[in-house]
Amino acid sequence: MTIIALLSDDRVTLDQLAEAFARQAPEAKIALPGEGAFYDAEVAACWYPPPGSLGAMPRLRLIHSIGAGVDHLDHDPTRPMLPVCRVVDEAQVQGMVEYVRWTALYYHRGFDKMRAQQQAVRWCPPMQREAGDYHIGVMGLGVLGAAVAKDLAGAGYAVRGWARSAKNLPGIDVFNGPERFNDFLIGLDLLVNLLPLTAQTRAVLNMDLFGKLNPGAAVVNCGRGAHMVAKDVIAALACGQLGGAVLDVFETEPLPASDPLWRTSGVVLTPHMASSAATGVIVRQIIENARRVAHGEVLLNEVDRTKGY
Ligand code: NDP
Ligand code: OXD
Repeated sequence: MTIIALLSDDRVTLDQLAEAFARQAPEAKIALPGEGAFYDAEVAACWYPPPGSLGAMPRLRLIHSIGAGVDHLDHDPTRPMLPVCRVVDEAQVQGMVEYVRWTALYYHRGFDKMRAQQQAVRWCPPMQREAGDYHIGVMGLGVLGAAVAKDLAGAGYAVRGWARSAKNLPGIDVFNGPERFNDFLIGLDLLVNLLPLTAQTRAVLNMDLFGKLNPGAAVVNCGRGAHMVAKDVIAALACGQLGGAVLDVFETEPLPASDPLWRTSGVVLTPHMASSAATGVIVRQIIENARRVAHGEVLLNEVDRTKGY
């Protein structure tokens, strides 16, 4: 039977994963770092694999992310050029749709301002604005971004999307490629990031970008922490260019207690919980791909190595 090694620099994640495999698939052959079978594994199930670990596994045939994103695999510079698969799950998509819909309502209906007014014991009902006059941009129109954009359009918002390639998504104004990025950004009231982290998308949420949105616009970052220049977010909130930011992902997770984002006015902070697949789903997808790799079958949710996501 194929040996599946579990790898993570984060002890809590590793323990949770081991527990999930033991509960959901007691028949699977699982190996943890330090165990004899570890270096004989053919499949590595990873979340931030420790540097040096993947390169030391001579029989490895498949590297599997336990999440939707695969950027964390670069944490190990010895990662060999093998097929990479990720988790794709309908319930996770639904979870992201719910999270982003909540942020749209929060800013569009002015709940952010009402919370501040309550703290100041101030009664001042906001002017209401039709959803169709509220412009939301979704960066990344993949599995998650496309579903989010469709949901927002279904709720009546004026929705634009940005991706690398052209697409036809009914009700959504799609912009593609770097040359159309400015047109996509100008006039947005809310910007949602659901891009994968790549060399092209790193630090995309910066002061220059914020300056193109409507003054007082809000930003929602559900992609990765390294998409955002944190000091620019803080500065843009301080000068009012940004009216708010919902941040779910950070360059260092857990976010250190000393990080100023914890205490920045206008930031709503959540601990990388926008949406995740259930552990049972993660375990089943990895086991199915381990079976497929052993039988030379087409893998599920394989990442395009040329694109890197
Ligand atoms: P997909 O790979 O399905 O989609 C990625 C999208 O981004 C595609 O539409 C792609 O364009 C677009 N894209 C990639 N590079 C560029 C670029 N340089 N310029 C413009 N568009 C670009 O990813 P998912 O939707 O499954 O996930 C997106 C990300 O969300 C993950 O990588 C992960 O980082 C994050 N995530 C966060 C979670 C959380 O709880 N916070 C949970 C799960 C994921 P094209 O369609 O043309 O290829
Ligand atoms: C992720 C996930 O990639 O939680 O962030 O799946």
